Amino acid sequence: MATTLISNSSLSQKDRACIWHPFTQMQTARPPIPIVRAKGIYLYSEDGTRYLDGISSWWVNLHGHAHPYISEKIKAQADILEHVLFADFTHAPAVELASRLLSFLPRTMSKIFYSDNGSTAVEVALKMALQYRHNQNPETTKTKVICFKNSYHGDTFGAMSAAGRNEFNRPFWNHLFDVESIDPPIIGQESKSLSQLESIIKKGTAACFIFEPLILGSGGMIIYPPAGLDILMKYCREQGVLTIADEVMTGFGRTGTLFASERLCETADFVCLSKGLTGGFLPLGVTACTEQIFNAFLGEHLHQAFLHGHSYTANPLACSSALASLDLLLEDNCFLKREMIATSHRNFCLKWQTHPKLKRCQSLGTILALEYQANSTSYFQPMRDRLYHFFLSKGILLRPLGNVLYVMPPYCIEAVELKHIYDQIIHTLEGAL
Ligand SMILES: Cc1ncc(COP(=O)(O)O)c(C=O)c1O
Repeated sequence: MATTLISNSSLSQKDRACIWHPFTQMQTARPPIPIVRAKGIYLYSEDGTRYLDGISSWWVNLHGHAHPYISEKIKAQADILEHVLFADFTHAPAVELASRLLSFLPRTMSKIFYSDNGSTAVEVALKMALQYRHNQNPETTKTKVICFKNSYHGDTFGAMSAAGRNEFNRPFWNHLFDVESIDPPIIGQESKSLSQLESIIKKGTAACFIFEPLILGSGGMIIYPPAGLDILMKYCREQGVLTIADEVMTGFGRTGTLFASERLCETADFVCLSKGLTGGFLPLGVTACTEQIFNAFLGEHLHQAFLHGHSYTANPLACSSALASLDLLLEDNCFLKREMIATSHRNFCLKWQTHPKLKRCQSLGTILALEYQANSTSYFQPMRDRLYHFFLSKGILLRPLGNVLYVMPPYCIEAVELKHIYDQIIHTLEGAL
């Protein structure tokens, strides 16, 4: 059980001297917690305190920390080939991973383009969609990106732009490209969403529509059913607007099926993957696209090609890690664990969704989301810090998005450990906060 909230270890002091942390106000933040090792669902700090990683370290870890199978596969690959540039060269882990991923993704996916992380996977999809138009007609006026309000696609300029202007990216508003945004098709809002899409597409300038399928993650874990998205995607298809499914968070079993796209009748033109792709060991991004997209880049001249790449594109260690993670993901036991988590989350919701302190209590596969009643729903809600430190004091790492608390554990979590998280949530509902 954790008791230490403020760490003054030598490591955290040294950190303070030289490191700037992400998503952190460095003036007011408490010293970072020095983690020296991790195993399964637990992180261990320098002073021996144990933290249950209830959010899979920003949603990347699928099978628990330091999983020996993935670790061994990376070590074995490191002894053979650690890296090679990926233009004009290839290697077995990249080829095997691409062909395995294509066998699970919607059948219309035909080619895999590698990058480094979720933001770059999105950048690649956006650039491909825009260049597809350009390659077809250099004078094209179909250049607009459509997105959902409250969406999040990453922190690079294209990915920021694609989510629309919001409080996170305010300092950069002058530099973001313009997008059109529509409401997500949450229950009861489907026709509003469709009519917004229709009126945007009727202007004749839309190039593509990017969306997080079934759940808007960083925007507040907003869950919506597949039927509404299918209607939007169908309309896009009929009107020749390309669709980009950003499965960076939802991929690899998070929402119940291997990919959220499996729950849709329509298929997107692009699928973006990252986070759980390597089981949480190494950074890697994937953009899958259809044969039609790929073909539009073929020609005699280099300028028709996709002139984009990163130094670590298709890093062999990352690809080996992803292959090992896929092996584990497809085991029966992993499937049963995901079922166990999903059922537990559902039962929790059934019991607590009407609690007066909650505005919303929903689950989708292995994701549980609770919105606490507050005067406003925002990432900057002061309730966030109280919740965060309360759970940390109980030895549980949960990072609320403002007044929205979510649980997204590694799949190896046991029922008793899930119950420990639920018990502490119940404490917050019954007066501990
Ligand atoms: C849906 C979605 N897309 C893209 C990203 C960006 O991924 P990364 O942080 O690896 O750049 C995220 C990150 O949270 C995400 O949730």
